[in-house]
Amino acid sequence: MPHKERGKFITFEGLDGVGKSTQLEKLAVHLRKQGLKVIKTREPGGTLLGEQLRTVLLSSRTSGLSPLAELALMFADRAQDIDEKILPALARGQWVLCDRFTDSSEAYQGGGRGLGSDLVLQLHGTLCRNLQPDLTILMVSDLGANLARARRRNIEQAKGADNDENRFERENHAFYKRVLDAYLSIAEREPQRVVQIDAREPAGKVHKKIVETVEERLVRGSN
Ligand code: TMP
Repeated sequence: MPHKERGKFITFEGLDGVGKSTQLEKLAVHLRKQGLKVIKTREPGGTLLGEQLRTVLLSSRTSGLSPLAELALMFADRAQDIDEKILPALARGQWVLCDRFTDSSEAYQGGGRGLGSDLVLQLHGTLCRNLQPDLTILMVSDLGANLARARRRNIEQAKGADNDENRFERENHAFYKRVLDAYLSIAEREPQRVVQIDAREPAGKVHKKIVETVEERLVRGSN
């Protein structure tokens, strides 16, 4: 059987409301037009188990979740996503676009909840077998504008629904500042993997930047 070249693994990161999911979708459309096979996933979520964990993790009805339990559930979701979706797709030669990955745990639980990076990276080593994205798009915008957008969106989505995804949006400005700082430290530590994209530009311009980055880092870079 001919040996299939492994696909590429791209993750999208950033604060809530920064426009990651829109940009991930646009990139998927672009790559498919180039003839590539692309699958999308998200964390938490992405698998059947993951969607159940997502409900528990994001619902404002979940109260009293300890930071360590929160971290463990994020990694349970991720371990399932890796085994069920990400690794099999990469082995088939497909490109995987993932909305959040371990950088989110390092930023939110490590930074935001104060658990620190070491624990997160240790868990990543064990539970994710240290799987590293080929490229991480870190979308950065103004803290205040981000949160306002995320809150508006989630209030709209929660209207008439049994459940909501508001647990994180209830956190205060200081929490999100710690999350952002942790993201920026990751970008500084791993410039070969993480590319910061200014998300304040119109969506079309941001998309163009992302396409250029992917071509520079993954298409030309692998020839
Ligand atoms: P999103 O899927 O709408 O971006 O929201 C997911 C929320 O979960 C977001 O507030 C960030 C949070 N999260 C963590 O705190 N740690 C993690 O490891 C992941 C994947 C997400």
